[in-house]
Amino acid sequence: MSDATIRKLTWRDIDSIIAIDQKVTGKARESYWKNKIIIYSGLDPGACLVAEADGKVIGFLLGERKDWEFGAPQSGWIEILGIDPGYQGKGIGHLLAAAIIEHFKKSQITKVQTMVERDAENLLAYFRSLGFAEGSLINFSKDI
Ligand SMILES: CC(C)(COP(=O)(O)OP(=O)(O)OC[C@H]1O[C@@H](n2cnc3c(N)ncnc32)[C@H](O)[C@@H]1OP(=O)(O)O)[C@@H](O)C(=O)NCCC(=O)NCCS
Repeated sequence: MSDATIRKLTWRDIDSIIAIDQKVTGKARESYWKNKIIIYSGLDPGACLVAEADGKVIGFLLGERKDWEFGAPQSGWIEILGIDPGYQGKGIGHLLAAAIIEHFKKSQITKVQTMVERDAENLLAYFRSLGFAEGSLINFSKDI
């Protein structure tokens, strides 16, 4: 979709983001998104983006720059993204990823990372189509 534009997220986009998430998940999670946007906008506002087309917000992406312990270099993280189901598969996710990667490159970041559920086939295909490959981190969890 060539006429979509990417810009920084603002607080006025919150209702659009809640609506996209509700279309994707079937759940209205107002306080969840308000908290997420406060946190991520505070960490790195340049890594919080929305896509617009047809006069409305049709996708969003929240990221951040993280310093890891043990002297590892800073890396950029794609934390959450969502595309309005009516606009999926039209290159909007690619546009958002390209924009955040440009933002990270300006900060001399040379690696971008993300976490994906192993059965989320759409996200696995999406990140592979962007050139991402499995990294060296292993996710550990324990039921308590
Ligand atoms: C997964 C998602 C982010 C991809 O964004 P998108 O704008 O639809 O994807 P794009 O059109 O930019 O990219 C399409 C690429 O992703 C892959 N892809 C995306 N959705 C896919 C699906 N449902 N099944 C298979 N592949 C898919 C395709 O392989 C395609 O690769 P190609 O361009 O080489 O053909 C988007 O569909 C989405 O928001 N999905 C639901 C919400 C979600 O799961 N959010 C993540 C929570 S963190």
